[in-house]
Amino acid sequence: MSEVALGIDFGGSGIKGAPVDLTSGALVAERLRIPTPEPATPHTVAEVVAQIVEHFRRLLSYDAIGVTVPAVVTHGLVRTAANIDASWIGTDAGALFSARIASPVYVVNDADAAGVAEARFGAARDSAGLVVVTTLGTGIGSALLFDGALIPNSELGHLQVDGHDAETRAASAARESEGLSWREWADRLQRYYGALEDLLWPTLIVVGGGVSKKADKFLPLLHLRAPIVAAQLRNEAGTVGAAVLAAEQLAASAPIASA
Ligand code: BGC
Repeated sequence: MSEVALGIDFGGSGIKGAPVDLTSGALVAERLRIPTPEPATPHTVAEVVAQIVEHFRRLLSYDAIGVTVPAVVTHGLVRTAANIDASWIGTDAGALFSARIASPVYVVNDADAAGVAEARFGAARDSAGLVVVTTLGTGIGSALLFDGALIPNSELGHLQVDGHDAETRAASAARESEGLSWREWADRLQRYYGALEDLLWPTLIVVGGGVSKKADKFLPLLHLRAPIVAAQLRNEAGTVGAAVLAAEQLAASAPIASA
């Protein structure tokens, strides 16, 4: 496995990329952020991904490239589009990006990437048992990790809570658009995380997404069985996790050199 891989995180307002040191999880060059195109279709996003890849190819060498998508992804195929353009559904994003860049690209759900980064380098490092990493943003993303191993595409942001798709009430975007106080939002988070832990009994819950930098405003208001802590990699988690997973995928698929 090479030492550095490129991670790219496709978010609602920006597409961010950076080369990542696979041993430490640190970014090895200043990240590049390009505003998410409108509309953010597979083809417009592929162009931005290519720009980011070309920018870093001029600076340093790396083999593995990982890209997050905020949707269910199985074998590179995007299956859902809760908060993205509907044209993503059925798109083989792995094939599309790989063809555009002329290199293999590994595509992963955004929250799964963030979860892997927190498990390797952040708030869930060395945590045994079942860890749930959630990202509170436009929607709610989730990653399940058991003894550090990812169980992909858990989609726990779409749990039904009080008759609603949870992310429509408890995502960070709902707090902003409805002008909720921290206390009002925390009441919704309490219902959400309470329902989640009644089903899964995790040993640790990690809360990520941009709002996690204000965790002191809402985490102390929550009362759960499991410890609930703020993510540590903040908005770099998706980038770091995408790079790590891409490098592992490339290593696993590489032909074994003959002696
Ligand atoms: C999507 C997930 C995604 C999450 C965070 C949800 O609406 O269904 O796939 O991880 O938003 O972006």
